[in-house]
Amino acid sequence: MRLAHISDLHQLDLTGVKWQRLLTTRRVFGGVNLLLNRVKEYRSDVFETLIDDLIREGVDHVVVSGDVSNLALESEFERIFHLLKLLGNGTKVSVVPGNHDYYTAGAAMTRRFEKTFYPFMFPEGFSDMDVDLYPYQKDLGEVVLFGLCSAMRTTPPLSHGRVGERQLQKLEYMLTRPSLAGRMTCVVVHHALHARHAVPEYTSRLLDRDAVLDVLNRCKVDLVLYGHDHVGTTWLQERPGKKTQFVCCGSSTRVTDDPVTMAKYRIYTIDNNKLRKLDTKIYDPSIRKFMLQ
Ligand SMILES: [Fe+2]
Ligand SMILES: [Fe+2]
Repeated sequence: MRLAHISDLHQLDLTGVKWQRLLTTRRVFGGVNLLLNRVKEYRSDVFETLIDDLIREGVDHVVVSGDVSNLALESEFERIFHLLKLLGNGTKVSVVPGNHDYYTAGAAMTRRFEKTFYPFMFPEGFSDMDVDLYPYQKDLGEVVLFGLCSAMRTTPPLSHGRVGERQLQKLEYMLTRPSLAGRMTCVVVHHALHARHAVPEYTSRLLDRDAVLDVLNRCKVDLVLYGHDHVGTTWLQERPGKKTQFVCCGSSTRVTDDPVTMAKYRIYTIDNNKLRKLDTKIYDPSIRKFMLQ
């Protein structure tokens, strides 16, 4: 099977949004940042090109590792949902939330992200009373996928994340079930699992990164997909009898002058319960297409 991985779409859509709603502390701070740096970089036309490219590639499943929105507004979520829906339903698409998808207290408390994107995570629906939505599990055929939530409300300008003990206990229980023996496993989370330089380590790291890595080390996990870091990186962890490929996607919609941070997405070719190939497609603004690296 072929699995695609996209991330950090950061799509802004202010359709129908009253200016008063943009005046929350969080959005004012984010709004300034947005106007200065983001609005021209994380492009809506590149997101549409990305969807076209994924359809053309005919991949079996698409994983979205969070930060789909900028301000966690209904208008943003609705547009993103309708574009992702062009790829198919929950058998074709899986998502996890990023910190920008829990951007305000209102969005996080009302579970705005989950209420929009639940068909890609909990196709049976979910209850408002359910405190244990994550990790969710999906059988994709060749791969069993586990979606974690690391998103949390933070005080600007911080954007830390935390998975939490409860999700980690549940993840370890799920990953060690005998029914998974011989199956390829893939864990998806938004926040970065590699150490970055001093500023993002101080302002936007995954607070329980060591605990998450401990669980992944103890269990058999073949593929770990994440985002949050908009550059993107890949690293392999090998221990006796275990091999885990970690991939940070980078942003899939960002257009910059630097090829390292240019919009990209990943395609994993999986055969016989093993990762056989990892391809990266990078956006070429001169022809407005994603091209194989
Ligand atoms: Fe992001
Ligand atoms: Fe993020």
